[in-house]
Amino acid sequence: MQEAGRILAVTHHRLAQAIRPGMSTKEIDSLGERIIREYGCTPSFLNYNGYPASICVSVNNEVVHGIPDEKHIIRDGDIVSLDAGVIYKGYHSDAARTILVGNVSEEAKRLVEVTKQSFFEGLKYARPGYHIADIGRAIQIYVEKNGFSVVRDLVGHGIGKRLHEKPNIPNFAGRRRGARLRPGMTLAVEPMVNAGEYDVEWLEDDWTVVTYDGSLSAHYENTILITDGEPVILSQAEGIEI
Ligand code: MF3
Ligand code: CO
Repeated sequence: MQEAGRILAVTHHRLAQAIRPGMSTKEIDSLGERIIREYGCTPSFLNYNGYPASICVSVNNEVVHGIPDEKHIIRDGDIVSLDAGVIYKGYHSDAARTILVGNVSEEAKRLVEVTKQSFFEGLKYARPGYHIADIGRAIQIYVEKNGFSVVRDLVGHGIGKRLHEKPNIPNFAGRRRGARLRPGMTLAVEPMVNAGEYDVEWLEDDWTVVTYDGSLSAHYENTILITDGEPVILSQAEGIEI
């Protein structure tokens, strides 16, 4: 999983470097698939429950699971969430980054920064002695303190030999404490944060999730390992910004 995570981090880095206005979301997907296969991995999203691509590309008001399309052109000022998963020797990694393309509004920049930081607020509780819900609670508190909202209809998840394993990891505090965190657990923690209200809806393609109020949305995700002490971020690579 560490190697699956390292390769995924490099893939994200290379995509972030390549993305520019005028590129279609389909080109981003094709490049991403090529990079993943170049490292001897398999894109885990391709054909997952019928999903037709390797990279989820979600622009601006799209929250997650945007379907790459040659007619969808990236423009200056867009924020582009890229979500990808790779399989290396049967083990999965899953990570998302939101890329600022060109001249982005101050609000969009702040949204992307708060979303990323919310992950690290949650990470503080990703260790024995805490429960699953403590992660989401910390994420929610930080996001709302910054005037944004956390998506309720989609959650993080366990990950390992499968992309989605138990338990669910909500990015908000519910009534349940959830499972106790134990060393050896591998989790995908993935705050999805809207600039406006938290409500989302699904488009006609049955995949693309968009904000109900049309506001911007950002996504940030890493695959992590619970240990006796500090959690380890598996979806990272030396010399590359997390
Ligand atoms: N990245 C998503 C997640 O974190 C999964 C995408 S499902 C797919 O759970 F079908 F779009 F691939
Ligand atoms: Co995930």
